[in-house]
Amino acid sequence: MRMYDIIMKKRDGGELSKEEIEYFVYNYTKGNIPDYQASALLMAIYFKKMNKRETADLTMAMVNSGETIDLTSINGIKVDKHSTGGVGDKTSLVLGPMVAACEVPVAKMSGRGLGYTGGTIDKLESIKGFSVEIPMDKFIENVNTVGLSIVGQTGNLVPADKKIYALRDVTATVDNISLIASSIMSKKIASGTDAIVLDVKCGSGAFMKNKDDAFELGQEMVDIGTALNRKTVAVISDMDEPLGFAVGNVLEIIEVIETLKGNGPKDLVQLCLSLGSHMLILGGKAQNPYEAEKLLKNIIENGLALKKFKEFVMAQGGDPSFIDNTNLMPSAKYIYEVKSDKEGFVEKIIADEIGIASLMLGAGRETKESKIDFGVGIVLNKKVGDSVLKGEVLAKIYANTEDKIAPCNEKIINSFIISDKAIKNKKLIYGVVSDKGIERY
Ligand code: URA
Repeated sequence: MRMYDIIMKKRDGGELSKEEIEYFVYNYTKGNIPDYQASALLMAIYFKKMNKRETADLTMAMVNSGETIDLTSINGIKVDKHSTGGVGDKTSLVLGPMVAACEVPVAKMSGRGLGYTGGTIDKLESIKGFSVEIPMDKFIENVNTVGLSIVGQTGNLVPADKKIYALRDVTATVDNISLIASSIMSKKIASGTDAIVLDVKCGSGAFMKNKDDAFELGQEMVDIGTALNRKTVAVISDMDEPLGFAVGNVLEIIEVIETLKGNGPKDLVQLCLSLGSHMLILGGKAQNPYEAEKLLKNIIENGLALKKFKEFVMAQGGDPSFIDNTNLMPSAKYIYEVKSDKEGFVEKIIADEIGIASLMLGAGRETKESKIDFGVGIVLNKKVGDSVLKGEVLAKIYANTEDKIAPCNEKIINSFIISDKAIKNKKLIYGVVSDKGIERY
């Protein structure tokens, strides 16, 4: 087999065989295929697409490129949750304790952020003493005792994805449905979970910019999960404005604590209730969304979700004192108010622009080697639909370097689209895809 022939076949719109896909994944991971040939194939896939059979074969070839995790020693149905990536997305940190407190075990391997999307692991590392790298036996023990553990992905889990994703990131081939679906699902399958709830984001802050593509991506991932005997549900949600108010590591952790105390932003709470309901249903703790939501609301009201968060932090070496006093967390030297230059109604907050502004402040990584400044970020003061007066505060910038404030201020102002007309209630959740089909809301 020759890589040249595989590239040419896909370039001309052909269907790759299982063997050809395995040849590419195996040899690229081993370093036998140069980046320029792999890039050419990825670009051919981007333009000519892959069918369902090719996508499923690509997923399994990626799973088989490294080790897989055996979670059978964890009691109960393990349900994982994964988001396709967004701005201000802290749902995993809210859902983990909520779902674990309802006695569905959560054994989660998460990634770091790259680009403007924040990573759960980075947020957790802003907690003093918290370790995201614990041995596998301790990870399993924590899930069996606490009900929840979140760790970074181990080095040899789907090494093919690590290499291919890094190449996609620099060759403009990230936003292809087959490539995203196989990348996400290979990691979920390899990490040993029994069931998967996917949060597929759609809008300016997401890889999928329109609803049809987001539903198609959801369907593709549900099909892969179903074919591999993992019950899979995809919730299609809006990312045309950041989720919640806070963007930035410590700022998001504070919002997580507030949400677990019952004071969360409306959109974040709604999304967590929806994703959490599917997790409880797949985990066998509820029969229907109504029953599941009741359990989840109750677990917040009776304080058990917050208690679970504390237990989880302590079990991974974190100092939990910040939970009662968030002033103990790293903070920013300067807090600057971004003021509106016009009056009207917030029609849109361009989420990726807010993500980039927070990246400029140091809350994310420009390159894999960048060091994160945990205390910096942005807290929105207005959300889509809110009315604004001229001079009113749109957002607050938390910065540690004074010279970042002015460019950030400009970016935030430009990302707020203010209209003269009142905005109709916008949908947060567009629908759900499961093995029963698509349900649009
Ligand atoms: N998240 C992933 O893990 N992979 C993708 O390709 C896109 C988002």
